[in-house]
Amino acid sequence: MKRIILIGYMGAGKTTIGKALAQELGIAFYDLDWYISNRMRKTIAQIFEERGEDGFRQIERNMLHEVAEFEDVVISCGGGTPCFFDNIDYMNQQAPVVYLKADPEVLYKHLAMSKNDRPLLRGKSQDELIVFIREQLEKREPFYTKAAYSLDVSLMDDFTKIKNSVAQVRKLLNI
Ligand code: S3P
Repeated sequence: MKRIILIGYMGAGKTTIGKALAQELGIAFYDLDWYISNRMRKTIAQIFEERGEDGFRQIERNMLHEVAEFEDVVISCGGGTPCFFDNIDYMNQQAPVVYLKADPEVLYKHLAMSKNDRPLLRGKSQDELIVFIREQLEKREPFYTKAAYSLDVSLMDDFTKIKNSVAQVRKLLNI
């Protein structure tokens, strides 16, 4: 297996689980948002401000095509990555893709603290946030469910249960 790609909504734990998985497997970890930030020398929020969401999505697509060529890596994507262009089809060609699925309530709990770092969530009240998550998740699920594998991480709610999530991903992929 050359690479593994993790997808899922913001706050599902892609980065946390991806990092731990890569460490266990002894391979490199790439977070697509971090890769974009490094390459562009700007935060994701700055890119959204300067180029709008459309500009960000173009860059995201281009960078996805770079990292998804790397070998012996675990890649965690942004929550929106699979939902634009033909990104999910491309990912499915490049790697086993795992959808980390979580209930809106669980996502809300994880995102309430960090919403200001994420341009799509910034400035929303608590009530607006839960409604936004529910609605956007519903729109995105058809893309997420195109992943070859899916793992419900709602019950592995707490990030102290990371080891458990990693073990489940390994079982799913037989690695
Ligand atoms: C986004 C998710 C973010 C980041 C950007 C847009 C989205 O990544 O790519 O803010 O559209 O869901 P995380 O899922 O890592 O927060």
